[in-house]
Amino acid sequence: MRQKLAAGNWKMNGTGAVLAELEALIQAQGAAKSELLICPPATLLSRAAEIASGSHLAIGGQDCHAASSGAHTGDLSAHMLKEAGATAVILGHSERRADHGEGSEGVAAKASAAWGAGLTAVICLGETLEEREAGETLHVIGTQLATSLPDGATGANTVIAYEPVWAIGTGKVPSLEQIAEVHDFLRAELATRFGADMAAATRLLYGGSVKPSNAAEIFATSNVDGALVGGASLKAADFAPIIQALDAS
Ligand code: 13P
Repeated sequence: MRQKLAAGNWKMNGTGAVLAELEALIQAQGAAKSELLICPPATLLSRAAEIASGSHLAIGGQDCHAASSGAHTGDLSAHMLKEAGATAVILGHSERRADHGEGSEGVAAKASAAWGAGLTAVICLGETLEEREAGETLHVIGTQLATSLPDGATGANTVIAYEPVWAIGTGKVPSLEQIAEVHDFLRAELATRFGADMAAATRLLYGGSVKPSNAAEIFATSNVDGALVGGASLKAADFAPIIQALDAS
């Protein structure tokens, strides 16, 4: 019942030339069974949306402001992303939590703004290595989930991405048991708060050093409905086999 989702987060990578990768991805994976989402830098949103128009690939932003307009130099509202062609927005990525001091309450306000603009919120959660080693992973994840997610979350307007901070861009990946433990916990927490139907409808993505070489085993893990991919989403030749692994899972 949950459509699998392969999402790419290009982060602060790419000028116009990288859009050729988008064209190559559409060529290679235009018929994928899984839902596909690429979140390029904001400067490329409009052009990316134009290229993806009429294809199976959706385009998303990487952040938005909680307000709809105003004196917020450098920020973008959810409505602006929507107008540029986005259908989703990543919120609460650990890089934003670390670089910009974003807290979960602020992430929840952004999620409400995203929903108000008709965007799906891809809400990121994850523990640091210190927290994992201290045995606090589920406590940290539970708190982030409770506080980052406003009332009103549904399987249609929300996607949850579990991204252990220590696995992002490091080549380190949790064991499959560790991924399953967190994803099972997330599904149960959603059911407790929002009900079984919502929990059953909400996609749970894993993110952090997903590569063509480890994608299949991650996608075979309990309650993993797809991936949020950084580095390996920048090249169609790397992202395409990840999508194929998801389709086959
Ligand atoms: P990497 O796939 O480069 O580890 O990045 C993961 C990520 O942060 C996606 O949002």
